[in-house]
Amino acid sequence: MSAWLVLSFEELGSTNDKAKELSANPPAQKFVVTAQKQTSGRGRRGRVWQGLDGNLFMSQGFELELQHLSDMVFIISLSLLEALRLIAPNLKIELKWPNDVLVNGSKVSGILLEKAENEYIIAGIGVNVKAAPNLDNQASYSATSLKSCGIEVSATEVLGAYLKAFDKNFATWQTSGFEMIRNKWLQNAKGLQQEIKVNLEKEVICGIFRGIAQNGALLLEKDGKTEQIFAGDVFYKEEK
Ligand code: BTN
Repeated sequence: MSAWLVLSFEELGSTNDKAKELSANPPAQKFVVTAQKQTSGRGRRGRVWQGLDGNLFMSQGFELELQHLSDMVFIISLSLLEALRLIAPNLKIELKWPNDVLVNGSKVSGILLEKAENEYIIAGIGVNVKAAPNLDNQASYSATSLKSCGIEVSATEVLGAYLKAFDKNFATWQTSGFEMIRNKWLQNAKGLQQEIKVNLEKEVICGIFRGIAQNGALLLEKDGKTEQIFAGDVFYKEEK
């Protein structure tokens, strides 16, 4: 497997936008765009991703058939979890559907997958290495940073550990399919077989988190029936 070409910028609006632009004429088969400072970072569901100093802002560009996009969400979040476990073996690190990594129950990273040119996809990843956003009342989830959990590491070290884990998991997925990735993901998921609340676009639904479907949907059991949830924000019992 070829190596990643890493293109590092001092400042960008959004690493995802830069990577999308590059995908029109890809600088390498697999490339990564990083920025020390990101001024207009984008999150899921139209949210803003704050560009706090010292955090990791990166976007991977690689070719992928769109039918596999949902598998990538799990490969990437699992790889981030494994990278952070290597860096901080004593921290409590878990996964939250669809693609958040939690440290001590709070969000430490976010992933934004987008389509680009030439069958490329862009996997944008933000990790709170040095600072967590002050979310005030904008979000009902909490955020944390590695530094506030006592972990002194640089964004570059997190990137290196992540790319290694990603390559390993991607190779596993290529040879063995989604099943093995899904099992590993679920082994590290917070709240499996427990009651959770999911905020959908227009309603809130409560049920037991039973797993992940082949298509990446969250399986939620409610009134004896299992429903597939395709988009939403998950909350655990202890959260409001
Ligand atoms: C989320 O809402 O959880 C996803 C956040 C994704 C943020 C990253 S930071 C690097 C890349 N560039 C962006 O503009 N967004 C992603």
